[in-house]
Amino acid sequence: MFGGRMVSFLVGGIVVSVCSLSFSLSNLSFGAEYTGNSGCKCHMGKGCFEGEEYKERLHSNTWEKRLKGTPDAENPDCLKCHGTAYGEKIAEAGKKYLPNVQCEACHGAGSEYKKLKENYEGKGKDAFKELLKKDPLTARKVQYDAGLIVAGINGPATVKEQCLKCHWESKDDKNKCPKTDKVMDYKDAFKKDDHRDNDEIDDVIKKMSAEDKKKWASLLPKDEILNTPLKPKKKE
Ligand code: HEC
Ligand code: HEC
Ligand code: HEC
Repeated sequence: MFGGRMVSFLVGGIVVSVCSLSFSLSNLSFGAEYTGNSGCKCHMGKGCFEGEEYKERLHSNTWEKRLKGTPDAENPDCLKCHGTAYGEKIAEAGKKYLPNVQCEACHGAGSEYKKLKENYEGKGKDAFKELLKKDPLTARKVQYDAGLIVAGINGPATVKEQCLKCHWESKDDKNKCPKTDKVMDYKDAFKKDDHRDNDEIDDVIKKMSAEDKKKWASLLPKDEILNTPLKPKKKE
């Protein structure tokens, strides 16, 4: 798919037009950079379910807890699991990695996704929210086309596959932390880390006809674990 965009603005009375071409292939976004959690400022803000759940997990501070101040603080062999985006394109100049297991470790480089949330089709900061209300499935498609990954839907085929990039189920696994033998109990780990909540898309999916399900198959959960009940909402 090819997406062209014309942006015009006024400089000293002269109209300047900037033409930016961006391409996106389904689920692949060329040039997306890692923005870090500070790029996810809505989710990390107070009261956002995903952000609040995330902050309770050791993913969010494992670098500080395990590597900071040790000789391994910048060791690539540790950062591949206790850090994010080692050796990848990071938006902030000069950074070689992002500390901790950040959102983008599982959801992919976020710069294109961030742009669309801030200014979908050049229509301003509320445009994406409006699309989400009006047509949640198209909104989901647009996010995935911008590079957003959700395991079990458009990323790794199953959620477990994603977890096993950094976890292991047998003590003899080669892809394992040299500092601990603790194996992952997947079902229990998923329950702890599960940060789905009920949103517009879930409501639409519940009411979809079989025909629509076929049409939107590429955007629906394929991993059965994603059909398990959501966590009850915490009391405010
Ligand atoms: C394959 C991914 C992976 C790699 C590589 C890795 N770790 Fe870990 N590490 C983990 C996971 C996952 C845990 C937590 C396991 C659990 O609690 O279930 C962990 C736990 C730890 C702990 C806590 C151990 C404890 O006693 O609970 C320390 C310290 C640690 N890692 C340091 C390191 C250092 C230093 C390196 C590099 C030399 C490293 N890790 C490489 C995934 C990894
Ligand atoms: C990029 C690497 C990475 C990926 C991918 C990853 N983890 Fe982890 N996970 C870690 C590390 C590192 C720790 C160790 C945290 C510590 O003890 O410092 C950990 C610890 C955990 C813990 C125990 C800590 C806690 O706060 O309860 C759970 C539960 C967990 N992970 C669940 C998951 C699940 C479920 C998935 C897949 C959806 C997953 N992880 C994917 C790196 C990863
Ligand atoms: C360890 C991997 C991992 C990390 C880190 C992670 N996610 Fe997720 N995320 C997943 C997986 C897997 C799913 C689908 C199932 C679930 O919720 O566990 C998901 C689902 C979601 C959803 C969909 C929720 C819904 O209602 O359907 C949102 C939104 C989300 N994550 C946002 C975030 C944000 C924001 C962060 C960082 C603050 C984050 N995630 C960090 C793995 C991760």
